[in-house]
Amino acid sequence: MSELLLELKDIKKSFKNHHVLKGINLNVNKGEVIVILGPSGCGKSTLLRSINGLEEIQGGEINFKGKSLGGKDVNWQEVRQSIGMVFQSYELFPHMKIIDNILLGPMKAQKRSKEEVMVQADALLKRVNLYERKNSYPRELSGGQKQRIAIVRSLCMNPEIILFDEVTAALDPEMVKEVLEVILGLAKEGMTMVIVTHEMGFAKAVADKIVFMDNGEVCEVASPDEFFNNPKSERAKKFLSQFLTVG
Ligand SMILES: Nc1ncnc2c1ncn2[C@@H]1O[C@H](COP(=O)(O)OP(=O)(O)OP(=O)(O)O)[C@@H](O)[C@H]1O
Ligand SMILES: [Mg+2]
Repeated sequence: MSELLLELKDIKKSFKNHHVLKGINLNVNKGEVIVILGPSGCGKSTLLRSINGLEEIQGGEINFKGKSLGGKDVNWQEVRQSIGMVFQSYELFPHMKIIDNILLGPMKAQKRSKEEVMVQADALLKRVNLYERKNSYPRELSGGQKQRIAIVRSLCMNPEIILFDEVTAALDPEMVKEVLEVILGLAKEGMTMVIVTHEMGFAKAVADKIVFMDNGEVCEVASPDEFFNNPKSERAKKFLSQFLTVG
């Protein structure tokens, strides 16, 4: 039996009178990897940001483990310990060493001891091959390295689900692979993830389910095989055709 972790029901979001999300429904089961695809401006980032409480929604319901994330009394700082998010721009603190960037959340928000978090941080740093950089500053690392640190920082909070918003979009091509491999590894271990990406090969490899969005709506939900080999909607066909001509 699959366990429903995150449930989005008829999510609506506007910026003034611009309707960006027009009633999004989406279920994420524990251990599932969902990849959201769609043209630029269709609302992918807005959707992830809404799940993480970074955007206020105007309609619909977000339930996490059966509990509503609506209403004024939701403690988003607490929710974000369970629902992690990794951004295109890493969001590391430039004045803090790598290790201090990683320790900050677990120690401050989760009140865990430095010794205990350090053990976990060291193991995660080794896993992404950056243990020897723990005392460096973000500016001393490449984009791909910084992004792997941002993933480690998120993992160190022991989230139940991680949202990834185009985490390789700002990277030089040779650094994309090292970051995607970390995410593929997490998928193999059963981490629940919602991933927005423009890397089609990666999407196909990592996804249990593809959600194709266009113009603030979910147009198609399919297995990667179905979606890439036999897209149903004209909009999905058109979206995929750009990648075929480029790639
Ligand atoms: N803070 C904001 N204020 C006003 N409009 C916004 C804001 N954030 C996003 N939008 C608009 O909402 C729409 C959806 O934006 P969003 O960033 O979610 O798209 P996206 O699918 O992530 O695109 P991309 O693939 O380029 O990242 C766009 O038309 C954008 O201009
Ligand atoms: Mg975006």
